[in-house]
Amino acid sequence: MAMNDNELKQEILRLKKEKNAVILGHYYQRHEIQELSDYVGDSLALAQKAQEATADIIVFCGVHFMAETAKILNPQCKVLLPDMEASCSLAESCKAEEFAAFKKEHPDHMVISYVNCSAEIKALSDLICTSGNAEKLVRSLPEEQKIIFAPDRNLGGYINQVTGRKMVLWNGVCTVHDAMQAEAVLMLKAEHPDAPVIAHPECNPALLKVADFIGSTKAMLNYIKASEAKKFIVATETGILYEMKRENPDKEFVTLRDNKSCACDDCAYMKLNTLEKLYRCLRDEQPEILMSAEMIEAAKRPIVRMLDMSKQLGIIK
Ligand code: 13P
Ligand code: SF4
Repeated sequence: MAMNDNELKQEILRLKKEKNAVILGHYYQRHEIQELSDYVGDSLALAQKAQEATADIIVFCGVHFMAETAKILNPQCKVLLPDMEASCSLAESCKAEEFAAFKKEHPDHMVISYVNCSAEIKALSDLICTSGNAEKLVRSLPEEQKIIFAPDRNLGGYINQVTGRKMVLWNGVCTVHDAMQAEAVLMLKAEHPDAPVIAHPECNPALLKVADFIGSTKAMLNYIKASEAKKFIVATETGILYEMKRENPDKEFVTLRDNKSCACDDCAYMKLNTLEKLYRCLRDEQPEILMSAEMIEAAKRPIVRMLDMSKQLGIIK
């Protein structure tokens, strides 16, 4: 007989203890998964938590590139992903063979890749970044340094704009954020004139232009907490509303979904993980992220460089 949600939760907690597992969850996960996670964070914080984890098993409730990053940073740990199909449109937009050819066209360039890419792309990169550290990492590099930025042309374009750099951009997008329309935001802004617009840098340039604050999932949460405003227009994936409301019960959040013409704010990949799959994954200890030692070694170098630089720059502790 199928278990109800409460029974599933009890079983997950029991198995987690029995198997010395830790559950890491991204802010875009379903709220019931965030509730059960030992740690919920943005890509940067989750990578750091994975590196520091001392558990025997990491169950990564997020998408594939995040679980892969956890395995790269902590290879002796068994890393599980509740649904192996939980991919990412940005990672899909950048295939290793094509990227290697692109890199060859720009021989004197350093390669910075957004963490939303495969291990193969990481292995072809000099430095990894997340939306939480991209601007500071780029600013810390010598001005004359030529840079290829992959795979997100929106995040890369935004960093070019704020830093005045001319990084060469790979032409990839997050299909969820790129589809969010500035017009929809402006219509909501007309209805809620006092609400600041907060957006993730994966959104398209027209939308970013009308945003009052642009930042990673964690940065958006910090902005809301510190703001005097009582209402916010949120241009990012809806999973984060759970944490926004939890941290700010007295504040109100308007999403693009509230503009009836637009319902483009769910990441189908993030939502593949469910309580049932999390339970089965802990019970069966699969699907497991498996990688060759060579790939782990090659992809680790630019990620560790990112974490070391982030510490030096005071972005993380
Ligand atoms: P953050 O690093 O801001 O959490 O973003 C991850 C992501 O996939 C955004 O779409
Ligand atoms: Fe990838 Fe976009 Fe989903 Fe984030 S929201 S995991 S960038 S597809």
